[in-house]
Amino acid sequence: MSPEHRNLVVVANRLPVDRVESDSGEVSWRRSPGGLVTALAPVMRGHGGAWVGWAGGVDDAPEPFREDGMDLVAVPLSAAEVADYYEGLSNSTLWPLYHDVIVPAEYNREWWDAYVRVNARFAEAAEAVAGEGATVWVQDYQLQLVPSMLRQRRPDLRIGFFLHIPFPPTELFAQLPWRRRILEGLLGADLVGFQRRGAVANFVQLTERLLGLPAVEAAGDGVDAVSTPDGRTVRAAAFPISIDATELDELSRTPEVEKRAIEIRAELGEPRRVLLGVDRLDYTKGIGHRLKAFGELLADGTVTPEDAVLVQVATPSRERVEHYRVLRDEIEQAVGRINGEHARLGHPAVHYLHSSHDRPELAALFRAADVMVVTPLRDGMNLVAKEYVACRHDLHGALVLSEFAGAADELSEAFLVNPHDVDDLKRAIVEAMEVEPEEARARMGAMRTHVFTHDVTRWARTFLDTLAAG
Ligand code: ADP
Ligand code: G6P
Repeated sequence: MSPEHRNLVVVANRLPVDRVESDSGEVSWRRSPGGLVTALAPVMRGHGGAWVGWAGGVDDAPEPFREDGMDLVAVPLSAAEVADYYEGLSNSTLWPLYHDVIVPAEYNREWWDAYVRVNARFAEAAEAVAGEGATVWVQDYQLQLVPSMLRQRRPDLRIGFFLHIPFPPTELFAQLPWRRRILEGLLGADLVGFQRRGAVANFVQLTERLLGLPAVEAAGDGVDAVSTPDGRTVRAAAFPISIDATELDELSRTPEVEKRAIEIRAELGEPRRVLLGVDRLDYTKGIGHRLKAFGELLADGTVTPEDAVLVQVATPSRERVEHYRVLRDEIEQAVGRINGEHARLGHPAVHYLHSSHDRPELAALFRAADVMVVTPLRDGMNLVAKEYVACRHDLHGALVLSEFAGAADELSEAFLVNPHDVDDLKRAIVEAMEVEPEEARARMGAMRTHVFTHDVTRWARTFLDTLAAG
């Protein structure tokens, strides 16, 4: 592929695939984890643009290549940059800070230097691929300096930025030693997109308080704007991200997935109710809170192990970062404790899988689950909640959903909970387990209507049309 002269370039920390090398040196590609890739891959397959990102691994970056219908341009990271830029500033400073400091955010000047250096490398790579006047769409918290770096080099470009995770309120963001630099980085974009309206308000307030920039007259329906010292207007708005609902719906209707869903229930011992959690193993996801609620329901006899099993699928994530290691130990201990107290021979109360699964297996799990339990303490969107809904064309199944997930703004027919309130969580789980079929159908039908009319194609189109209209 010639990477030159693209009209659309997506820049994200990760490429949609990770390079995996077997012991014999054979190279293959594996889908990268997380919601960003789930959402952007179907959009990019249809667009013919280039995707600039890191292929995982250290030092080596393959030549531009084509995989799964997408043109990919790899950016290399050294071992020190993986430690300082990716595990450090991105995932030990920004990730916790932007997620309500569920664990403390660490501030380290060397990490910041690496963040600046790596952002500059991504900006250079994007510049090399973008044709004259192209649209460059920068993604997520790892690359917040790229918009201004790109603008300096290439004023001809139209630059969009989308933040997949929450954007924190002033009190938290103000902790960041490099708070002005980050805001200035974002202001290099023509349009800055967030998941929720509250994040837009935080951004506008912060640019005013920390940079003294005035908010200008609303630029249109639901679009805010800030005017910059160089006389530009930067617009900011909420664009709640979504999934390729039709693709997942079709997958969930295939005979293989239907058959596998029946098999899964049989393998679980045909319990009356199957509860399911599917997450990256991340402290934002509230997996411990979910386990505590389920454990208490078993302990107080509200639920018996014949009545219900919980299947928890947790994708390994950021395993070299200390808080993730600690989390894994805590979760595995909690699972062990519940099973120690409540399992019978051959019948665990919690089935815990620390692994990734392909889309058909995930769809089958969604089809097999009576209750999907999604309990993040803070989450930009949470695509798993939408994926569950997309798979339930039978209109069975109930969704327990944290009000701290962006998805709660849209899926108001879910059983909404505050996961910090264990009693509330227990109540919601039991209500979801016992919901009358008619009510379940009505709730699921309404959520499906929303997910199918607000899919990822619409998300991308709305963002790109708004960017183009500026
Ligand atoms: P995040 O982006 O924080 O990981 P999301 O819920 O928005 O959270 O997106 C997670 C994506 O990763 C979804 O598409 C989901 O299906 C996928 N996923 C989560 N857990 C697994 C797993 N164990 N195996 C395969 N895919 C998974
Ligand atoms: C979230 C973030 C993404 C990230 C993904 C997986 O979805 O918003 O930017 O790619 O998690 O995390 P990882 O650190 O493995 O890329």
